[in-house]
Amino acid sequence: MKITIINGTMRKGSTHHCADAVMQQLNKYDETEVTEFFLPKDMPNFCIGCYSCFYNGEHTCPHNEYIKPIVNAILESDLIVLTSPVYAFDVSGQMKTFLDHLCYMWLSHRPNPKMFDKIALTISTTAGAGLGHTQKTMKSSLKYWGVKKIFSYATPVSAMKWSDVSEKKKEKIDKDTKALAAKIAKSVKNAQKLHNPLFRSFFFNLMKGMQKKNDWNKTDRNHWESLGWLNGNKPF
Ligand SMILES: Cc1cc2nc3c(=O)[nH]c(=O)nc-3n(C[C@H](O)[C@H](O)[C@H](O)COP(=O)(O)O)c2cc1C
Repeated sequence: MKITIINGTMRKGSTHHCADAVMQQLNKYDETEVTEFFLPKDMPNFCIGCYSCFYNGEHTCPHNEYIKPIVNAILESDLIVLTSPVYAFDVSGQMKTFLDHLCYMWLSHRPNPKMFDKIALTISTTAGAGLGHTQKTMKSSLKYWGVKKIFSYATPVSAMKWSDVSEKKKEKIDKDTKALAAKIAKSVKNAQKLHNPLFRSFFFNLMKGMQKKNDWNKTDRNHWESLGWLNGNKPF
């Protein structure tokens, strides 16, 4: 199983420990090949809003040297993992700025068909609150990239660092991640057979109607045309 993890922090703290626990469990089901990125080291720039990815293609992003290897790894994976601690009731700034760079591949622009059978996992920890918002931010991107199934693990740890997390909590994380890994392994194995998310089919068709009328962005329109999606070809 090929896995790409994008960590929304450089810190190997509570969030990373949760991700690590899932990885260790997944290894019991299948041989895993994990590629890990740490933000901001592996993608240090803010999106500058130049719109070049939208209009001229993603290779023209001024930060393509950072974005391209991450996207390539994602596209080659069976499982995509996004992790972030809760900062100010949301993802870390570095995770958000990474997600900003990938808006070009939302269903409303140029979705990559390789995403359509992928499984994803979002992981976040918090001292006390904000997990809902944080998970939603990461899940929205995955959903609009067209990922088929999204799992999530979110837990309050009542601590600022992993060494302060109680033994009871650590045991719970072990137990939870064991159960979660079993479900993820099963989904990855059967990814092609899993049913298509209803929202994705609905939204894809809505966007198809929009792309048929698209005279404002040739790059987006050419993408849909070249894949035959405007002439009856169905990706799922
Ligand atoms: C800048 C910053 C902002 C934070 N914001 C929140 C918050 O809004 N709510 C909360 O309960 N904890 C907040 N925390 C605590 C972390 O979410 C929590 O300690 C988390 O488990 C840290 O994960 P890590 O060990 O992987 O870095 C914040 C921590 C930092 C450093």
